[in-house]
Amino acid sequence: MDLFEYQARDLFEKHGVPVLKALVAETPEQAEAAAEQLGGGTVVVKSQVKIGGRGKAGGVKLAKNPQEAKARAEEILGLDIKGHITRKVMIAQGADIAEEYYFSVLLDRSNRTYLAMASKEGGMEIEQLAEERPEALAKVPVSALTGIDEAKAAEIAEAAGFDAETAAKVAPVLQSLWTVFAEEDATLVEVNPLVKTGDGEIIALDGKVSLDENAEFRQPGHAELHDIDATDPLELKAKELDLNYVKLDGEVGIIGNGAGLVMSTLDVVAYAGEGHGGVKPANFLDIGGGASAEVMANGLSVILSDSQVKSVFVNVFGGITACDAVANGIVKALEILGDEATKPLVVRLDGNNVEEGRRILQDAAHPLVTLTETMDGGADKAAELAAAN
Ligand SMILES: Nc1ncnc2c1ncn2[C@@H]1O[C@H](COP(=O)(O)OP(=O)(O)O)[C@@H](O)[C@H]1O
Ligand SMILES: [Mg+2]
Repeated sequence: MDLFEYQARDLFEKHGVPVLKALVAETPEQAEAAAEQLGGGTVVVKSQVKIGGRGKAGGVKLAKNPQEAKARAEEILGLDIKGHITRKVMIAQGADIAEEYYFSVLLDRSNRTYLAMASKEGGMEIEQLAEERPEALAKVPVSALTGIDEAKAAEIAEAAGFDAETAAKVAPVLQSLWTVFAEEDATLVEVNPLVKTGDGEIIALDGKVSLDENAEFRQPGHAELHDIDATDPLELKAKELDLNYVKLDGEVGIIGNGAGLVMSTLDVVAYAGEGHGGVKPANFLDIGGGASAEVMANGLSVILSDSQVKSVFVNVFGGITACDAVANGIVKALEILGDEATKPLVVRLDGNNVEEGRRILQDAAHPLVTLTETMDGGADKAAELAAAN
């Protein structure tokens, strides 16, 4: 999960990384009040979108007083930066920047370790620096066991080419940034720019943090960092029900077990849809190994609340959970849903106990359910029903 800059700033502050005072605003009036609260002097109005290059796109502007902050916020709120619409701005104290540096620490998957990167030449896009002048970007592996301790921080600062005086000031900040990385279960902490002010202070002026969602069970504070406004309401509902669901833009709802089977079901349905007026899959939904009635009912409920959905294709391969259990799950799920189940369901079962599974569905003879023998046949039937509805 990527965080907004203001959320990254809060985590920095929590772990002792020097940052500037800042407040978040959603209207120009709030921006003006925020600038007032910050002392009435020079502030920076910054678009809060989860994409870099905001400065270049006109999303970071100086304002000399609260009235100007209001005017700049008016310009920046609603601004589209590479497809990301600005809904919030951060009002931060203006910094007296003498030098801009770069620092990041990230999970280096290919080398099975962590990697710190640092440069005296921050501010610009780091991909560009890495390409044009790779020697200006120091890369130092960081062990998970020792992290960035005093010695490692000094090593990174030296590798980046800081003079002794600056290195001594930067190093403790790098240690604090490692604390953010480790304590918050981050996969990326990036500061661009890390600045030295006219007074020789080191401050993190911009922050990009990605958190490892797999660690949320031990990070109770992270749930509230999710950007609910930007999440599809159906995906939110699915998440609450613990379902592996991704909303897509088509008409055929999909339920399958196992990510691979669901992915190929999407392909087969998209292909079949071309023969039926171009209908497409409406979602990805993997109900996993245990296709219990409850999980099936939850999955169907999410899919059926998608008003775009015209038919549903249930494509299950019976393994440890055999087809008869899945069939019973479908029958019970339809009972649970009652009137909520309104769209035709095409079911294809195969694998363990398939005969028994099919018999259960035939005997139940639910008016909405069509049984098919093959995956291609099921996809075609579901696409046909979606096109007809
Ligand atoms: N609080 C601030 N005070 C003064 N200048 C700032 C401040 N925040 C950002 N800047 C300037 O704006 C530039 C871009 O801001 P930054 O936060 O890095 O956004 P982005 O990386 O998305 O362009 C920075 O490199 C810095 O020069
Ligand atoms: Mg930046």
